Amino acid sequence: MRVRPFDRDRDLAAVLGLVSRMRARGDPGAIFHPGGLQWWLRRLGRTGFEIAVRSEGDDVLGLALRDGCDVIVQADSAHLADLVELLEWVESRARETHEPEIFVSIAEDDDALRGVALSRKYQPSERYGYELVYELAAEPPSASLLPAGFEMISLTPALTDAYVELHRAAWSRPNAPSTYDRRQHDLVTAMPDFRYDLVPIVATSLGTLGAYCMSWWDPRSSAVEIEPLGTHPDFRRKGLATAIVHEVLRRSWALGAKYVLVWGTSGNPEAKALYLSAGLRIRRVLRDHRLALGS
Ligand SMILES: CC(C)(COP(=O)(O)OP(=O)(O)OC[C@H]1O[C@@H](n2cnc3c(N)ncnc32)[C@H](O)[C@@H]1OP(=O)(O)O)[C@@H](O)C(=O)NCCC(=O)NCCS
Repeated sequence: MRVRPFDRDRDLAAVLGLVSRMRARGDPGAIFHPGGLQWWLRRLGRTGFEIAVRSEGDDVLGLALRDGCDVIVQADSAHLADLVELLEWVESRARETHEPEIFVSIAEDDDALRGVALSRKYQPSERYGYELVYELAAEPPSASLLPAGFEMISLTPALTDAYVELHRAAWSRPNAPSTYDRRQHDLVTAMPDFRYDLVPIVATSLGTLGAYCMSWWDPRSSAVEIEPLGTHPDFRRKGLATAIVHEVLRRSWALGAKYVLVWGTSGNPEAKALYLSAGLRIRRVLRDHRLALGS
């Protein structure tokens, strides 16, 4: 079978290698950074979340990720014809689970994927995402001044439970509690590129955790991705998230990274305001294209 379900043990290294290579080359279809993909993988096993790979032996030439109705597909530039098979796989799986529609993210300069999608009756929608980037220079970025009573630390195994609570507090909405838990956290920290020293946290002098992010270093593309990031609702609008972003810039500079990136969506204007005020700039936009699956 050319397109088959992702098998973590067999495919993880090859999939991370593919997305890393595509990003390093600057392929128009390179959406994933290996770090963000490792963060996504915590959802494996949840209903509606699945990944397929287009493989040849142990080599992976393309992948498709579906989270409910949201879809990302990308294929090596020498195998763009495989985008058709990857989309076919996603559409048939989404039909089986009765999704009324799906949205595939397409970078504005990705003519290959747009051509395939339009030929399959996808339509541009009002939803979009964007890649925000900070290009690192020769000089180290400066640190933010923290408000009195706060300090910058890093995640350690001893802080696991407090960290999971902080993430849940930052990402829960009224009537929509975060699904993050110890099981997912253990999956994330077991990922090959996870590093405790790239998880900066702002804590009070009494040890209460206020803001955090995970950041992921990919030496092949010389890029660090921030994913996820949040501030506890009790500590917002004090500059803590800004301090976290600036800390990632400093740690990334020390690693020799060329740039730091984070993905935003049209549904989260607060995050966009934060990253723009912290000095990141929009590098490219992904337009979500919609396919009505109907009956
Ligand atoms: C977005 C979020 C991280 C901001 O955290 P924060 O610690 O309050 O951010 P800061 O205090 O550093 O804010 C810096 C700037 O971001 C912008 N900003 C932050 N929150 C904002 C909001 N609710 N509305 C508009 N602008 C906002 C402002 O420009 C702000 O500067 P100002 O306070 O001087 O006006 C926080 O609201 C959060 O955790 N949200 C849920 C999780 C999330 O969306 N994470 C980001 C996506 S990865």
